[in-house]
Amino acid sequence: MTQLFDLSGRTALITGSARGIGFALAEGLADAGAGVVLNGTRADTVAEAVERLRAKGLNAQGRAFDVTDEAAVAEAFAQWDKDGVQVDILINNAGIQFRKPLVDLELRDWQRVIDTNLTSAFIVAKQAARRMIARGTGGKIINMGSLTSEAGRATVGAYTAAKGGIKMLTRAMSAEWGGANIQANAIGPGYILTDMNKPLIENAAFDAWVKSGNPSQRWGKPEELVGTAVYLASPASSYVNGQIIYVDGGWLAVL
Ligand SMILES: NC(=O)c1ccc[n+]([C@@H]2O[C@H](COP(=O)([O-])OP(=O)(O)OC[C@H]3O[C@@H](n4cnc5c(N)ncnc54)[C@H](OP(=O)(O)O)[C@@H]3O)[C@@H](O)[C@H]2O)c1
Repeated sequence: MTQLFDLSGRTALITGSARGIGFALAEGLADAGAGVVLNGTRADTVAEAVERLRAKGLNAQGRAFDVTDEAAVAEAFAQWDKDGVQVDILINNAGIQFRKPLVDLELRDWQRVIDTNLTSAFIVAKQAARRMIARGTGGKIINMGSLTSEAGRATVGAYTAAKGGIKMLTRAMSAEWGGANIQANAIGPGYILTDMNKPLIENAAFDAWVKSGNPSQRWGKPEELVGTAVYLASPASSYVNGQIIYVDGGWLAVL
């Protein structure tokens, strides 16, 4: 049974993993045996995150780059080719939030949110999938969706459009790459305790809404996404393709 979830010998790139959900997923995949490549926008915080994993005896390295910068992403993959680093598992996790009513939202902020949460998944997966296909090894791509992949919320219109796009991009990836034994799936987290939600966590009314509206009556923790990520990264999900799995404490099950 454990072999089904064993990631030994695999290398996983997790974008946006200097902190938050990405860091928890990197640690979880490394615990399951993978070598992990951490990423974020800042070299210093990526290096610190790598050191935290290495201090636990885990196999980690890092590279800072902006996932919206196609040239920087291509350069990173070209360097890994030279260094013999093969990305077998990609988690497109990097993301940002920006809250403003649609009628007040500037185009540049709309674009920034779409680029970071949606276009980046295309940019990074293109590089990873090209190599998986050329190697003939197959691979795993996990995109980060959200409750807003399914439902609208006021003041997060661009984010909602991006995360809805992630659900369909995941299906497009499965359609194009399934024959190359690449499984592309997504995770849709509920409200998780991270920096991204700091303003919501500190808002007493919102905090009470999360605790009363969610069947689990609490916020989720980043490490509670690890089981699903390991499943989607492992041989256990070899015939699961184009799906989005909600890890939301039951939010989407209720009105
Ligand atoms: N928290 C939730 O409740 C929740 C719910 C549903 C979905 N999600 C999704 O889960 C993912 C992670 O969220 P989180 O809550 O862990 O967020 P977070 O704590 O704010 O961390 C975001 C990470 O993404 C990185 N990042 C942002 N823009 C980037 C860019 N252009 N290039 C490279 N890295 C970039 C950040 O890098 P730096 O450290 O360098 O800034 C950071 O490491 C996001 O896709 C988010 O939309 C979160």
